[in-house]
Amino acid sequence: MSLLDRWQRELDDLRALGRDRQLRPPLGHDFSSNDYLGYGARVFSEPSPLPRGSTASRLLRGHHPLWDIVEERIARWHGAESALIFNTGYMANEGLLSTVIAPGDWVASDQFNHASIIDGLRLSKAEKVIYPHNDVHALKEQLRRARQSSAHRELFVVTESLFSMEGDVAPLVDIVETAQNYGANVIVDEAHSTGCFGPQGSGLVDDLGLRDRVLATMHTGGKALGIPGAYVAGSKVLRDYLVNRCRQLIFATALPPQIARWWKEALDRTWHDDDGRRRLHALTSSFRGALNERGIKAGGDHYIVLIPIGGDVEAVRAAEKLQAAGFDVRAIRPPTVPPGASRLRISIHANHESATVAALAEAIAGVVLWDGSPTRP
Ligand SMILES: Cc1ncc(COP(=O)(O)O)c(C=O)c1O
Repeated sequence: MSLLDRWQRELDDLRALGRDRQLRPPLGHDFSSNDYLGYGARVFSEPSPLPRGSTASRLLRGHHPLWDIVEERIARWHGAESALIFNTGYMANEGLLSTVIAPGDWVASDQFNHASIIDGLRLSKAEKVIYPHNDVHALKEQLRRARQSSAHRELFVVTESLFSMEGDVAPLVDIVETAQNYGANVIVDEAHSTGCFGPQGSGLVDDLGLRDRVLATMHTGGKALGIPGAYVAGSKVLRDYLVNRCRQLIFATALPPQIARWWKEALDRTWHDDDGRRRLHALTSSFRGALNERGIKAGGDHYIVLIPIGGDVEAVRAAEKLQAAGFDVRAIRPPTVPPGASRLRISIHANHESATVAALAEAIAGVVLWDGSPTRP
């Protein structure tokens, strides 16, 4: 069998399971993107032209002075010593984790951490333990055992703050407390909370007053901030170490200077957008309330709302019905979630109309039963 035939057969098998994926343009009201504050969809006019290319990595000619301003503002936003921009959150996670965690170290990672965390930890070649989702007791037991063994140089704990596919919040205070008791360093992925929580929207770690108790946080621009790029916030030594050691930063062409300007604007906008945050959380409460009134059990704690379905084919069908009704809702299937746990993932945005959110709750009630299982076709 040729290589292409083999790939085709694998794709056919995925299709038969209801797990094949296609690239489709957006359609209908956006309830599937991570544009929580509605910035990503806005059209802005550019005040003056900047080069489209950065021409090199940041260590060569690719470091435009605007990035210094951006990183200084980000650091101030978080009350952190420093920040370092990366091209994507994927690269930031992979780069941060594989640079600061080394062979001989030990790391505990939440069961539902993002693929970029998993890949970063793989590259680190450290000993890895996966703890059950948000289970601080299990984490504590793992830390106790790791600390007893003298084999490990440094201990680390890595978690998301607002989980992307579960929509729930990690018990960050308990995690940090527990980790500190065992001398472990904590790294938090704030991809889905940046912009939406905390002092001027800087995230959950800052909201909980944990900034000085974590080693680093990772934030993406591509979600609530509505721009390309990502960054790591932490100490100045951490930043210097990454600049000197992090392959994902050193061996990649920098983002173009134009994007640095977008960052400056996005930081200002987000910093001052308490109204947007209030609206986001209020719309989420009314959406969750409307689902509840209709007897639908939704998962998640905030604006990422999960409707559990179970089967892959059923989840796709439920999403298709909502799409046909004008709502861009997508089915989330394995391997993004465990087998048998396919779901609809709905993200509420600050720029949604209340009536549209109410209409979506009504439409969901027509598609799924109270426990989230699909209605008969
Ligand atoms: C939790 C989490 N971390 C990191 C990333 C990667 O961020 P980016 O899209 O900027 O590469 C994502 C994106 O899906 C994510 O959900």
